[in-house]
Amino acid sequence: MTKIFYFSGTGNTLWSAKKIAELTNGDSELFNIGVEMRKAAEPIEADRVIVLFPAYAYQSPLLVRHFLVRSEIRSPYIAVLTTFGTDPGGALAEAHRIFKRKKMEVSYFASIPSVENYVPLFGPQSEETKRRRLVLQKSATEEIAGDILRGKTNSVWTLRPFSICTSSLFRLVKSFFVKAFEVRASCNGCGICARICPAANITIEGLRPVFSSHCEQCQACLNWCPRRAIGYLRFDPDRSQYHHPEVTVSEMF
Ligand SMILES: Cc1cc2nc3c(=O)[nH]c(=O)nc-3n(C[C@H](O)[C@H](O)[C@H](O)COP(=O)(O)O)c2cc1C
Repeated sequence: MTKIFYFSGTGNTLWSAKKIAELTNGDSELFNIGVEMRKAAEPIEADRVIVLFPAYAYQSPLLVRHFLVRSEIRSPYIAVLTTFGTDPGGALAEAHRIFKRKKMEVSYFASIPSVENYVPLFGPQSEETKRRRLVLQKSATEEIAGDILRGKTNSVWTLRPFSICTSSLFRLVKSFFVKAFEVRASCNGCGICARICPAANITIEGLRPVFSSHCEQCQACLNWCPRRAIGYLRFDPDRSQYHHPEVTVSEMF
């Protein structure tokens, strides 16, 4: 049996996780890392364990880092995969270092090109770019599923000082940007943002979302809001909403 652990804000990573589950022959179970981190840690045992997450500032989301650090994985085959928008930097290297410190071997690493979703910083992607990236994501995911089925092994270079600096800075300042969330009058307090947030960082108070300081910047609340009621820096909900077209909001919960 294969256990697949994923973190996803706009569905790219969840889509690849589901595809790999489908292509690696049936008996796979999917686990949302956000949900797992709200439970007590238990050893993870399986024939194959696959961990998928998006690259954030050249490393992993902080919640994923905490998950990797705390997890006790007992499996003969561990694969670590990252989706990315432009350049994954040292995202896989960070996971490699964490496992190495625990004296554990990761069997296989791979990165999957996807639609860039950091719109607040980089602005929205054109429809043509999104289409092209979705095609790339599909072919890379299929190839990687084949590698995993064949039990392919590889390694990654772990010395990534620039990625470590970039990520450390991002992790340090990200909580300050919580103030930049702007809730519009069209919000009706439906609570989808709170339910979808993998970091459990949003509560609904007086029919309005309230953002705490452990936001991962995953973009889920901005992109899945059915009333396009949440804005953030360059993210204009009327123009910028994106999620993987083959992932539904209920799959994200
Ligand atoms: C906070 C943040 C930081 C990101 N940093 C990077 C990065 O360093 N390199 C990159 O290629 N993509 C970066 N991205 C883009 C995502 O890795 C990419 O769009 C990913 O597929 C999103 O996955 P999801 O839809 O499962 O959330 C970043 C996205 C966010 C939200």
